[in-house]
Amino acid sequence: MSETKTSATANYRPETRLVHSGTLRSQYGETSEALFLTQGFVYDTAEQCEARFTGADPGFLYSRFSNPTVAMFEQRMIELARATATGMAAVTTAILAPLRSGDHVVAAKALFGSCRYVVEDLLPRYGIESTLVDGHDLDQWQKAMRPNTKSCFLESPTNPTLDVVDIAAVADIAHSVGARLIVDNVFATPIWQSPLSLGADVVVYSATKHIDGQGRCLGGVILSSNTFIQEHIHNFLRQTGPAMSPFNAWVLLKGLETLSLRVKAQTESAGAIADALAQHPKISRLVYPGRADHPQAAIVKKQMRGGSTMIGFEVKGGKAAAFRTLNAMKLAKISNNLGDSKSIVTHPATTTHQRLTPEARAELGISEGFIRFSTGLEHKDDLIEDLNAALEKA
Ligand SMILES: Cc1ncc(COP(=O)(O)O)c(C=O)c1O
Repeated sequence: MSETKTSATANYRPETRLVHSGTLRSQYGETSEALFLTQGFVYDTAEQCEARFTGADPGFLYSRFSNPTVAMFEQRMIELARATATGMAAVTTAILAPLRSGDHVVAAKALFGSCRYVVEDLLPRYGIESTLVDGHDLDQWQKAMRPNTKSCFLESPTNPTLDVVDIAAVADIAHSVGARLIVDNVFATPIWQSPLSLGADVVVYSATKHIDGQGRCLGGVILSSNTFIQEHIHNFLRQTGPAMSPFNAWVLLKGLETLSLRVKAQTESAGAIADALAQHPKISRLVYPGRADHPQAAIVKKQMRGGSTMIGFEVKGGKAAAFRTLNAMKLAKISNNLGDSKSIVTHPATTTHQRLTPEARAELGISEGFIRFSTGLEHKDDLIEDLNAALEKA
């Protein structure tokens, strides 16, 4: 196999690296990356097999540990990455693997429902306490820190209300007590935000979203330093088994090649849609990172390179009006996914955030009339017409 190692492409800009980094070519010299659908690997001799197991020979061993197609995907993520079966496997591994009973975690309240489950319900079962804070209240982060705080966790922009948290400021607070900051960067995408360069220590993605971006398969990614990956992640993944399948890695590799084009086009359309809907008489609140009226517009400017493919808005008339709007959409599909080339509308209160109490949803601004819109690759004017027609029925 010949390799275009990440090191050989490291001087190129991200768009170029997302097309070329990590390529491993077999003896056939294929243009497109090969899909290595294999569970295991064979060895020339027992000595070579032994050397693979000791690490003296750095080849592949077993696809739960690593696989050439998965390795290509990991290296194309630009930063040092480990791939997992789903985004939740990445989140759970990044949070749980480094912790021990007696440790403490501080997390923002505004999290995707399953992430909140991991922090709020799962960790305490293993003797790891957690404190939830209002993500953009830096005083609350500061006050929540304890000598045994080991990890802080946040997502920005948040799912689904698109609040933006000051990543550099929270990283400073975490580091002041020796804790690490883990950021779920799903909504920002690697195109618009690089939490590691803002001071975060670990970044997690659901590759299911924009990285695939075409609704096909699930995947997750953990990005961090070599030290963190070696100390906390590598062995946990190897021994517990939340591995990405080679097939999914192949699909996601091809997704990375068009990620930048897709996210830029989707963001441009989302900005136009947000502007078109902002003054709509049936809408009581619209949130779009990238508009000057976003509640944390100054932080958006400071830490993001672009807006978002996502828009949040609240229709007047609560759940009934929101359901009428969803049901009247012709082009955008009702689903609980996001980041797809097909536009998607979601009612978070009855889906992604359904397991929260009504009080917890109210605290996060997830009202019964709140709708999350994931902008696809359709023509923006068709989407604006679809939304305007649906809002007539709200
Ligand atoms: C912000 C965020 N993090 C993590 C996940 C989990 O990803 P997956 O569905 O790939 O497990 C999601 C899924 O919707 C999400 O929106």
